[in-house]
Amino acid sequence: MTQDELKALVGQAALDYVVPGEIVGVGTGSTVNKFIEALATMKDRIPGAVSSSVASTARLQALGIPVLDSNAVDQLSVYIDGADEIDSNGYMVKGGGAALTREKIVAAQSRRFVCIADESKLVNVLGAFALPVEVIPMATRRVQRQFAAMGGLATVRLKDGQPLVTDNGQHILDVTGLKISDPLAFESEVNQWPGVLTVGVFAHQKAAICLLGTAQGVKTLQF
Ligand code: 5RP
Repeated sequence: MTQDELKALVGQAALDYVVPGEIVGVGTGSTVNKFIEALATMKDRIPGAVSSSVASTARLQALGIPVLDSNAVDQLSVYIDGADEIDSNGYMVKGGGAALTREKIVAAQSRRFVCIADESKLVNVLGAFALPVEVIPMATRRVQRQFAAMGGLATVRLKDGQPLVTDNGQHILDVTGLKISDPLAFESEVNQWPGVLTVGVFAHQKAAICLLGTAQGVKTLQF
């Protein structure tokens, strides 16, 4: 099976976790795009979605799924999103699509995070994928120096030769050379550095379930 087929498989499987009659939280990325396509087949059974990015909002709306403001909703029963890496505790690295801040907000307002991913995302230790960190641009150099002090190389993500600007008007640093052996402590520490908007470690908002696409079918991991 191709990676695209595995993504479609888990995107479809995630429908089992959508509660009819309830608003669903929707993440961002190529795997979530498959989920959004599948969700359109049951759009008459849900009031709508809370979205984690401008890109997902556009896709949801194009398929006729209403998108609600996160402030208009108290709690969501489920949030469906992908990951760049996930470990055996359900801790993740996210933000490859630069949507990490809004993803963490929607994850935090959801009772259950259901991660959808192909098996290449399952790792023993987080950190092989360059860690995305959303920063306020005036703090870039300082945050780069702080990562350098812990052995990481933080590079400003570019788009068309210029710093990529996120949905929130900020920049992304991609940090290589880290081995994140204590994701909870790491997330807490980096999040309190001045100028860091969001670190792409999702340990405090970890997955409750991972639907992993494998050659043998969908494997369900519970954390
Ligand atoms: C976007 C994300 C995505 O969930 C992550 O990058 C995985 O994306 P894909 O499903 O395309 O592999 O965190 O900010």
